[in-house]
This record gives sequence, structure tokens and C-alpha cells, in this order.
Amino acid sequence: MIETPFNYTGSKFKLLEQLLPVFDYTKPYFVDVFAGGGSVYTNVLDKYQKIIVNDIITDLIGIHNSLIQGNDIISETKELCPGKKNPLGFTKLRESYNDTPSPAKLWSLMLSSTNNMMRFNQKFKYNQTYGDRGWNPNTDKKVESFTNHIRQYKDNIRFVSKPFDQIEVSSDKIMFYCDPPYGRIKNDDGSIAKKQISEAGYNAFWKEDDDKRLYDYLKLIDEKGSSFMVSGVLHHDGKTCWMLDKLIQDGYRYQELQFDYNKVSRKGDKSTTEVIITNY
Ligand SMILES: C[S@@+](CC[C@H](N)C(=O)[O-])C[C@H]1O[C@@H](n2cnc3c(N)ncnc32)[C@H](O)[C@@H]1O
Repeated sequence: MIETPFNYTGSKFKLLEQLLPVFDYTKPYFVDVFAGGGSVYTNVLDKYQKIIVNDIITDLIGIHNSLIQGNDIISETKELCPGKKNPLGFTKLRESYNDTPSPAKLWSLMLSSTNNMMRFNQKFKYNQTYGDRGWNPNTDKKVESFTNHIRQYKDNIRFVSKPFDQIEVSSDKIMFYCDPPYGRIKNDDGSIAKKQISEAGYNAFWKEDDDKRLYDYLKLIDEKGSSFMVSGVLHHDGKTCWMLDKLIQDGYRYQELQFDYNKVSRKGDKSTTEVIITNY
């Protein structure tokens, strides 16, 4: 399995062993609709003829796209990283990114941020704090094996940055993998609550009606005869995710994933059920 060099929040790398056997390999095309750090598309490149990689964060897609083209982004990012014991340099970089964003600036920020986690405020401005870290020899190793791998498939991949439902469901030949941000909670009367089931740094990008739009989008994929897999947290801390629960009630096939979130939870015992749901 190829690891991407991003330590991305919500990365599916540790769950790949459970996801990879379940994708529909009878389809020739694959769309990673919420690609994030790219763990999933990276590990199915040899299985599909064409792959679309999408994420709403344009500079994140810019990083993936630049890395497949060549090494310029690597030298630029290394140069921009403020390094250790340089909080002022980090603040300046963050201001510069929020003024004039670029993929290299975003990558330097991610590498330098607390727990490598990116975070945006409601105005889409980067607001994560300094983590006293940066580019290190391990980053070099990961970047090398990642780029060596993905560059072999350069002609098969198309990178796009759009809200998920603008990715056209053009045929019945596509395997859509959807790994959205945490969904909204189901109210006792079955309606959708405002609150999301848990927090993530990119939640700012998940709009209030996106759960319903994703539900409709998955139904459209199904109607067109293409395949979908959606993954997410169904139950967390006694709450239920509206969208995943509705799909299960509709009768789609689902299975629980084995992952111990309690180990990383800072707030004690919060039992979590993570699932994948498929229409095939
Ligand atoms: C759970 S993460 C995906 C993680 C990814 N599977 C990985 O292994 O790294 C969800 C992603 O959805 C993206 N996102 C949020 N809202 C979106 C939208 N409306 N359309 C497309 N992508 C969106 C976020 O930027 C984030 O990268």
C-alpha cells in the first residue's frame, strides 16, 4: 500500500485493507469524489482505466496535480516552510496564504501546523496554529515513493476541484467513492439537525444542505446504473448521522469498519461506528 505524504485528517489509509476488496472493479472508471489526502485514489490506480480526483479545496488538488507533473512544488514548499522554533515565520506564511493562496503555501502550512492538521474558519481563511514542525527526512521518503508511484499513471488521472454534485454522472460505467466530511445528526423526528456528528478542520466547506444534496447525488448515481461506495461515521457518542442512516433504511448494503477511534478521542469513551454503504 502506498502512503501519501500528507498525514491528512480523516485519511482512509488505515482502512484501505477493508475498503479495497469492496470496490466495484467491473467498472472501468473511478471517481474519488472527496479525495482529501488521496490515500484512496493512489491505491486503485492500477485497477481503473481513468480516474477523476476531486476535492473542494482547490489548493489541495493543486498539490496533487503539481506533484504528478514534477518537482517544482517540492522545492518551493521546502523553501516556504518556516521550520522549527519559528512561530513568527508561520504567522507570516499563514497571512501570506490567506492573502494570495497557492498550493505550495498550503502544503507548507499543513506540514508546519499542529498535528499536521489543516483548519479553515467560516470565511475559508486558514486558521490552524503552529505545530513547531516542518519538512523532515521522513517527508522526503514519503514524497519519493508517492511520486514514483502516481507518475506512472499520469495520463490516466484528471484532477478537478468542484463541489461534489458538480461532478457529472455521465454513464453507468463509473465507480464513485464518496468519503465526505462528518454528516449532520438525525433529530428524534427524523429531520436533519444543524450540528455535524463530529468535528474536522474542513467542516467549514460542508454547507447546511450538503447532506441532503449528497443523498440525492447518490440516488442519481444509482438510477444511472453506476456504482457508489460512501463511507462515514454512522453513530458517535449516542448520535446518529442522518444521511447514512437514511441510506441504510432505504435498503442499501452496508458493513461496519473496524477502527478504534477511542484511542484518539480526547474526551473519554465515545463509542463510534464507522460504515461503508454500497449500491452493489
Ligand atoms: C474525510 S475527507 C476525505 C479523506 C480522504 N478520503 C483521504 O483518504 O485522505 C473529506 C474531504 O471532503 C472535502 N470536501 C468538503 N466539502 C466538499 C464538497 N462540497 N465537495 C467536494 N469535496 C468536499 C474536504 O476538503 C475533505 O478533504
